[in-house]
Amino acid sequence: MTYMKRRTLLTAGFAAGLLLPTGSLFVAAGQARAEVTPACGAATPEQTEGPYFTPNAPLKTDLHEPGMKGEQLRMAGRVLDSHCRPVSRALLEVWQADADGVYDNRGYRLRGHVFADEAGGWMIDTIRPGRYPGRTPHIHVKVKGPTTRLLTTQLYFPNDPGNARDGIYDPRLLLQLEQRGEGLLGRYDFVLS
Ligand SMILES: [Fe+2]
Repeated sequence: MTYMKRRTLLTAGFAAGLLLPTGSLFVAAGQARAEVTPACGAATPEQTEGPYFTPNAPLKTDLHEPGMKGEQLRMAGRVLDSHCRPVSRALLEVWQADADGVYDNRGYRLRGHVFADEAGGWMIDTIRPGRYPGRTPHIHVKVKGPTTRLLTTQLYFPNDPGNARDGIYDPRLLLQLEQRGEGLLGRYDFVLS
């Protein structure tokens, strides 16, 4: 069901509820009823772009290239607005270091952009970045909805010993990481203000 349809149904449900005696608003367990609106998280914190952003990175959902070393990482999640509504077709640009902690500042290796789907879902396949001097492993992201302002931030890896020593690190930007087959799945939901 699309968001607009669901929204319309919810609105209709609330409107009907208001017309009923108070007691009718309580429904027995198991009866169909509208979902309670979930609490929405705070806006995703912004972070510095850093020195290695390159504009015009290509559209590609898989940044991994043949022969590239490093642990495979699939990142996925949703893009939401401040009311927890999905941001359809949001643009996500990603850039990162390779497994040795080296950025490609000449070409577009480990750089790319994708678009979220209609439900705000996004996904990109890459590798886990290595550490480079002065920083804990991280992945840079820019996220922009059709009507939102640009969010520039970075994502981090849980339990990395470098996190505590990194002055930019923010635990609110941790990927939810789990082992999936031969690689890792890292989930993150962006909330745009
Ligand atoms: Fe960086």
